[in-house]
Amino acid sequence: MSDSLSTGLLHTGDGQFYKKFSNYASVPESFPIFLTSVFAFDDVPSVDAIYEHEAEGYIYSRIRHPNADAAAEILAEADGGEDALVFSSGMSAIIISILSFVQAGDHIVSSPVLYGGVHDYLSKELKRFGVDVTFVDFLRGDVEKALRPNTKLIYTETLSNPLLEVPDIRKIADVAHRHGLKFLIDNTFATPVVVRPLELGADLVLYSATKYLGGHSDIVGGAVVGSHEVIEAVRPKLVLYGAVPGPLEGWLLARSLRTLELRLTRHSENALRVARFLEGHPKVEKVYYPGLESSPDHERAKAQFRGGLYGGMLSFNLRGGEREASTVISSLKKIKYVPSLAGTATTLSYAAKTSHRFYSPEERERAGITMGQLRLSIGLEDPDDIIADLNGALEKI
Ligand SMILES: Cc1ncc(COP(=O)(O)O)c(C=O)c1O
Repeated sequence: MSDSLSTGLLHTGDGQFYKKFSNYASVPESFPIFLTSVFAFDDVPSVDAIYEHEAEGYIYSRIRHPNADAAAEILAEADGGEDALVFSSGMSAIIISILSFVQAGDHIVSSPVLYGGVHDYLSKELKRFGVDVTFVDFLRGDVEKALRPNTKLIYTETLSNPLLEVPDIRKIADVAHRHGLKFLIDNTFATPVVVRPLELGADLVLYSATKYLGGHSDIVGGAVVGSHEVIEAVRPKLVLYGAVPGPLEGWLLARSLRTLELRLTRHSENALRVARFLEGHPKVEKVYYPGLESSPDHERAKAQFRGGLYGGMLSFNLRGGEREASTVISSLKKIKYVPSLAGTATTLSYAAKTSHRFYSPEERERAGITMGQLRLSIGLEDPDDIIADLNGALEKI
């Protein structure tokens, strides 16, 4: 007797699709998208074996799923880490990682120039949970002096947003480890193509995968890379808070990671060309790009960064303020005003009005963020065309 139509519709092909490939002479060249929230089992011991780490397999996609794992595996390799995790956003990656190492009564030391959302989290939100944060200028201040008996971690960025400052990663790692602390570093702007912080002593490298790792302005995601031990300290919190990316985002991230080195090399080469152009322009007061020999960060960057690449991000101060910045933004023809970064095309952002909008005026001043300051995410175009567009807009001031 055949099944009813509804039962047939529901059960035909049950679990056979991927099993088929084990008998075929070919497998899909592109890793498939596993658009499933859960996995099916024939018996109880099969699930037990996965929970008990006696067998490999998937149970429920919030716990882990193949497309998240595929992206994590590529990223761990790129960063020289033992393992990685991918998240639904950069913020969830950062917050869940921090929460994995602190609890009420603990203390964090952080640099003050950070992506605005993270600065908000550290300076305001964490207070609600009884965690104190001290902000220290990692270049001009003394990190060690800011430590307290209850300090649990040190936090900074490899290339700060938006001023592209470069900390001495090894020095901070040494301080952290002398005091038994974890050192977490956001490598979003640089990526492992430019610097691999684990090799310099960081414990956990964090990413907004929305930026270069994704690289095409089409996903929101996050990631962290570290040793097995550190990743296993974070994984339970990722599962608990449920910040897993969907299978499509995982797939897109894995796809994009394949071209990361190619993209970052071109982003970096173009950015150096544009930085040199802006440095010589009479309407520009100052350029922030560690690839410039004139940058106070150049020697530190050169000593730590890989292969003479300094990334695709740069900022510059116009001679002027908000009016001049607005004129440049509305006079650009190809370069769009986009409050994010790291897509394939060159875009421009205005930190004081977007990413750092919620810094108080004093915090902005302390961080060196001004109303005449613009941030460029240099794309993959012919650099002469980027320069021509910028030159035309600067002439309108
Ligand atoms: C350096 C840096 N870290 C973290 C984030 C947060 O990432 P997401 O927007 O993916 O949550 C951003 C976002 O702009 C960023 O620039």
